[in-house]
Amino acid sequence: MKKKKQAGFATRAIHDGQQPDPLTGAVNVPIYLSSTYVQQGIGEHKGYEYSRVSNPTRDRLEENLASLEGGVASRVFGSGMAAINAITSMLKSGDHVVCGNDLYGGTPRLFNQVLTAFGLEFSYVDTSDAKNVEKALRKNTRMVYVETPTNPLMRLSDLQEIAKICRRNKAELIVDNTFMSPYFQQPLALGADMVVHSTTKFLNGHSDGLGGVVVCSTQDQADKLAFLQKCAGAILSPFECWMVLRGVKTLAARMEIHDRNGRAVADFLANHKKVKKVFYPGLADHPQHELAKRQMSGFGSMITFETGSLKNANRMLKKLQVCSLGESLGGVETLISHPATMTHAALGEKGRKAIGLTDGLVRISVGIEDLQDILNDLEMGLAAI
Ligand SMILES: Cc1ncc(COP(=O)(O)O)c(C=O)c1O
Repeated sequence: MKKKKQAGFATRAIHDGQQPDPLTGAVNVPIYLSSTYVQQGIGEHKGYEYSRVSNPTRDRLEENLASLEGGVASRVFGSGMAAINAITSMLKSGDHVVCGNDLYGGTPRLFNQVLTAFGLEFSYVDTSDAKNVEKALRKNTRMVYVETPTNPLMRLSDLQEIAKICRRNKAELIVDNTFMSPYFQQPLALGADMVVHSTTKFLNGHSDGLGGVVVCSTQDQADKLAFLQKCAGAILSPFECWMVLRGVKTLAARMEIHDRNGRAVADFLANHKKVKKVFYPGLADHPQHELAKRQMSGFGSMITFETGSLKNANRMLKKLQVCSLGESLGGVETLISHPATMTHAALGEKGRKAIGLTDGLVRISVGIEDLQDILNDLEMGLAAI
């Protein structure tokens, strides 16, 4: 086991938790489609009793993802939102959370429209300046919840700085690492306490299954989350666990191409006369380019750009043939979305204006198709503006 931990990322992605099946030698983890398990006598079993509590396919995925993020354990859930909900279920009424003000729209929707009814308190600040986090802390602050880069404005937060603030104030730092994947960013190594992903995105990578994971830095967190899996039941199915196990095997290879294509598309957009502004941490004029180089080992493939208006955005999007207009990100195909009417519609016009999210913004998740085809497609779309 120790030897495996020292192996490189791509090796761990393929092998950790994915040992050949001891019964048959199958190189792929079997999908254990069994709700229950035969017991040899009262209290005598092989470690499995009922699949809401634990399942062998799920165990393998949880071992794999913990290894990739450098955590002690991980727990997987039926979607990214279910994973985020599980984290907040570790809090109690009266607890306060400081959040980034530019999160995936579904996260503040859960916090504001569901969880405040249970007595949890949330405040939102621009976490790209760590001082704002410190100022927002209260006596009852238990967690600081950030995404870096943010969605869709691609602002970064200095995780080491924020982790120090959290430690001094006995709050836990939770990082949604969906945009970068553990291949390019490892928040636990920078001082975060828990990492969450929508596995729906880069980890699974093929836009075909939903899922979420929380990677823990302590066994205590992992035990509490396992208890929540058992009590609330928002677990990932064995089939979808298998899909993520299959997806992560190519994570390193896919991320290299995503990153290469992402950099080239960002350069193309930055030099295009119809594009008013490009938000991508890999560009030298990104205000936190230096932090990006320090904190991440690649810049990824998430890019946001300004077309000037909703009309321009729509004209461009309608022309595209290679890039698919749709919600989500992180798949092998290039996905392009309009945050104001899709992922961030729930923020409302006022909420979007407050963070600078305009109607002309378009977000692109650059896929791993041939670069020239993506560029030609964008050129054709932009010509319609
Ligand atoms: C950054 C981020 N976190 C969390 C989520 C929620 O994940 P899911 O759709 O798997 O519930 C999303 C979904 O788009 C996301 O983009």
